[in-house]
Amino acid sequence: MENAKLALLGGEKSVSRSLADVSAKVVPQKAYKTIETMLDNGQISEAPIVKEFEKKFASYIGADYGLCVVNGTTSIQAGLFAVGVQPGDEVIVPSFTFWATVGPVVANGAIPVFADVDEDTHNLSAASVEKLVTEKTKAILLVHVWGNPCDMDAIMAVAKKHNLKVVEDCSHAHGATYKGKKVGSIGDVGCFSMQGSKVLAAGEGGILVTSKKEYYDRAVALGHYERCRLLGEDSPYAQYSLTGYGYKHRINPLAAAVADANLDRLDEMNAIRSKNARRFEELLADIPFIKFQKEPEGADKVFAYHYAQYVPESFGGVKLGTLLYALAKEGVSCGSCGYGRLHYAPLYNKEGPFGQEFPFNLKGYPNGNVRKLPNTERLGQTVFMAAPRFETATEADLQEYAAAYHKVAANMEALLAYEKEQAEATTIANNGRSINYVKV
Ligand SMILES: Cc1ncc(COP(=O)(O)O)c(C=O)c1O
Repeated sequence: MENAKLALLGGEKSVSRSLADVSAKVVPQKAYKTIETMLDNGQISEAPIVKEFEKKFASYIGADYGLCVVNGTTSIQAGLFAVGVQPGDEVIVPSFTFWATVGPVVANGAIPVFADVDEDTHNLSAASVEKLVTEKTKAILLVHVWGNPCDMDAIMAVAKKHNLKVVEDCSHAHGATYKGKKVGSIGDVGCFSMQGSKVLAAGEGGILVTSKKEYYDRAVALGHYERCRLLGEDSPYAQYSLTGYGYKHRINPLAAAVADANLDRLDEMNAIRSKNARRFEELLADIPFIKFQKEPEGADKVFAYHYAQYVPESFGGVKLGTLLYALAKEGVSCGSCGYGRLHYAPLYNKEGPFGQEFPFNLKGYPNGNVRKLPNTERLGQTVFMAAPRFETATEADLQEYAAAYHKVAANMEALLAYEKEQAEATTIANNGRSINYVKV
């Protein structure tokens, strides 16, 4: 079977079932019933389910407070505001992430400073962070990429040493743990996207968690004017119930109902995804050109997305695009990676049409943000989505996926010949998104 003809060259494809066959439905049945009742009652703007869900999720994460917002991007904006990031402050961020981690830094008038990641974990490296600390640094904004917890002991030690706040972007990592604690409960604030592709999906939605009342109060004041009066007399933010701070971040309660139903099955689904993903990695262990993402010691990741690093030197220099195209033709749901380029983005590097408030126009800021980030750039070139979430996959599906990889691995010469003739077919599209399935 392994030396059989590639599907790319007219052979039979290895994988018989589709992406939909191996994935669970995004919206659980329970949500349908709840939403029907809410629609009946006209609860389409405010509803008790929002606060119920906030309480349930905060307790699940191990934090005292939860606050729903319109999306994950906003949860980060609110998280930075909550810990007191001010215009002109520097916030250390990775470039190996979706733009929405970094965008809110600029939206808060602060300056993103890009640090490098660890090549094995794909996550922000504490050593790289520490080198970039200046007297203007206010916070570290980290991401648990693809669901893999950062090495939190090392990051928290840097934060403590330099008196920095830590905001966790947990958009991929609902339920992941580090040394027994859920991510989102270790730094000062945890921020979660609940966009439709996330393991805790609302549709569009986000949630912020924290155990510090002051941070919760600030996040409430930023985007929930109607809740300021509930903050208690001793809160300096209670007086803003007429206006809030100027934003409106209220989640659509129908989306909160979807998230609530998904939370009920999150642990069970995470366990299924992990079991299948780890089995898949085991089946591919003998393929020398694939390096799966490593967990730091003490971490238990969730498989929100299953990315790996391609090592072309171990496969005759076959281009990543060729590999992905061949795998996709075999029926593998795989994709390219859009991360690792933010530090070159115009938004963070030059004065543009946005006006004087733009943080890089502030006096004293070195013009431009480009700094070589060798690991980030290498990962940006070589990381790819190796498999979908295996949620309803059987052992037979996993065996077929593994057979596809082994067949491709056994056909290096044929791939090299193919890419010489068909250069166009093997170039990959990178659009900065978290998911870019190869279309065949
Ligand atoms: C790492 C990361 N951060 C932030 C976000 C932003 O979340 P949202 O799309 O809900 O605004 C996303 C996903 O979209 C993400 O993948």
